[in-house]
Amino acid sequence: MAKRVAVVGAGVSGLASIKCCLEEGLQPTCFERSDNLGGLWRFTTKVCSVTKRPDFTVTGQWEVVTLCEGKQEATIFDAVMVCTGFLTDPYLPLDSFPGIHTFKGQYFHSRQYKYPDLFKDKRVLVIGVGNSGTDIAVEASHVAKKVFLSTTAGAWVRSRVCDSGLPWDMVFMTRFLNMIRNSLPTPIVSWWMARKMNSWFDHANYGLVPEDRTQLKEFVLNDELPGRITTGKVLIKPSIKEVKENSVIFNNTPKEEPVDIIVLATGYTFAFPFLDESVVKVEDGQASLYKYIFPAHLQKPTLAVIGLIKPLGSMIPTGEMQARWAVRVLKGVNKLPPASVMIEEVNARKENRPSGFGLCYCKALQSDYITYIDDLLTSINAKPNLFSMLLTDPRLALTIFFGPCTPYQFRLTGPGRWEGARDAILTQWDRTLKATKTRVVQESPSPFASFLKLFSLLALLGAIFLIFL
Ligand SMILES: Cc1cc2nc3c(=O)[nH]c(=O)nc-3n(C[C@H](O)[C@H](O)[C@H](O)COP(=O)(O)OP(=O)(O)OC[C@H]3O[C@@H](n4cnc5c(N)ncnc54)[C@H](O)[C@@H]3O)c2cc1C
Ligand SMILES: NC(=O)c1ccc[n+]([C@@H]2O[C@H](COP(=O)([O-])OP(=O)(O)OC[C@H]3O[C@@H](n4cnc5c(N)ncnc54)[C@H](OP(=O)(O)O)[C@@H]3O)[C@@H](O)[C@H]2O)c1
Repeated sequence: MAKRVAVVGAGVSGLASIKCCLEEGLQPTCFERSDNLGGLWRFTTKVCSVTKRPDFTVTGQWEVVTLCEGKQEATIFDAVMVCTGFLTDPYLPLDSFPGIHTFKGQYFHSRQYKYPDLFKDKRVLVIGVGNSGTDIAVEASHVAKKVFLSTTAGAWVRSRVCDSGLPWDMVFMTRFLNMIRNSLPTPIVSWWMARKMNSWFDHANYGLVPEDRTQLKEFVLNDELPGRITTGKVLIKPSIKEVKENSVIFNNTPKEEPVDIIVLATGYTFAFPFLDESVVKVEDGQASLYKYIFPAHLQKPTLAVIGLIKPLGSMIPTGEMQARWAVRVLKGVNKLPPASVMIEEVNARKENRPSGFGLCYCKALQSDYITYIDDLLTSINAKPNLFSMLLTDPRLALTIFFGPCTPYQFRLTGPGRWEGARDAILTQWDRTLKATKTRVVQESPSPFASFLKLFSLLALLGAIFLIFL
């Protein structure tokens, strides 16, 4: 009989987990506390507790207690996939804003924000330059009287549109560039990163330059912010010194600024209230999970956490890759190493010792997208072998190495192999550009451009020769 798997949460990680369970012949039941999706899932069903069965050391089974329409129900599952995300609880560090309790206007966490109408003709203060704070400040700036965006640490802000108008992640996230980044000392990579970021606009001139340029903070992706700053619609300010009844004072600025609404875009924390601490313990913003997925100390590897990671790349394929490996472990096809090896990996990650090379992923849950995905691909024997491919299918090998690291690459071989993967890789740019090429224009080829292409091709072949041989 197929193993029954409880999937807790129907976000992108939960949906990927359901799909991976089905691909491996497991029997998933997904519990989702909200009412957003329909179909097979058991909606508006909150998971209250997940506990080991008394015979756990033999069966690895869990008792999942759920609450639906006031009724509690307990069900036995052979395995559990926890897909509740890392943005579960709003982080509200009110102590960082002395006097906020005396504020007579409205203040709320960014999670409560839905539409900008409430900002109409108001003086708005948004605290925190993360993606939430920046999105909200920009939206508010179209209707508000004044918008302040306060930052303590600054951030690199970049456009979704990169060189030549291409999507930034398709340009930035290639195996070739990743290899170069990871082979260079961190100060050089940080300098190069700063140069690249400042090529769009000088972050120092806009008051946004990150205080710590070595430790990578998540980029802010926003196409509009620089334009809103140059037109005076958004005013970048330092951290908050004091909040008064109807105004704020920023650090290092004597002037008191009148404010009507404060949005605390101060991020999130996460927790697993339905799990005992002996199963998964959250400390300093991270959980002790082998490869960010499996508790290292369980007698049976029948519980996996999916999506508890911040890769410098797309979250959706990362969650899917995690689920692909995890279901094979839950099924018993792939084995975990001994507990001592897993604990060692977990402890090394907690120590967070920078290697001195590549980007510095020193914040909890941050990871290098390609390195992490490759590690999981290796675990299920699905990592494409570029060396042998260079001999059998050089065009594909070069496109994989120099082109965007799109998830088709993860389906070329091994379990879950997809016949259409090769073709999808070779035609990925056609689909990307189709979205913008809504008016077809005739381009006359320039002889100089053809010469340059030929020269680049030769230089490329030279580089490949040097890299591979
Ligand atoms: C405002 C905002 C905008 C974002 N925009 C983007 C974007 O443009 N692009 C992008 O790539 N990422 C974006 N992100 C990040 C993205 O939302 C997350 O990376 C992604 O949602 C993670 O998916 P997940 O399935 O792991 O978790 P979630 O999407 O958080 O899903 C977890 C699910 O678990 C359910 N759940 C939790 N506890 C229980 C329980 N006890 N019982 C039953 N169900 C439970 C929740 O209801 C939820 O549906 C954004 C995040 C925020 C906050
Ligand atoms: N459009 C999108 O893609 C989008 C939109 C929203 C969210 N998201 C994602 O959702 C996740 C959460 O994003 P988020 O912006 O909500 O949170 P976040 O990235 O964690 O940013 C929160 C910010 O709040 C500020 N802050 C934190 N603690 C503070 C304190 N004690 N005092 C003052 N300021 C403090 C910091 O900014 P300062 O240093 O500047 O003060 C911090 O960067 C991220 O992964 C993000 O990418 C994506």
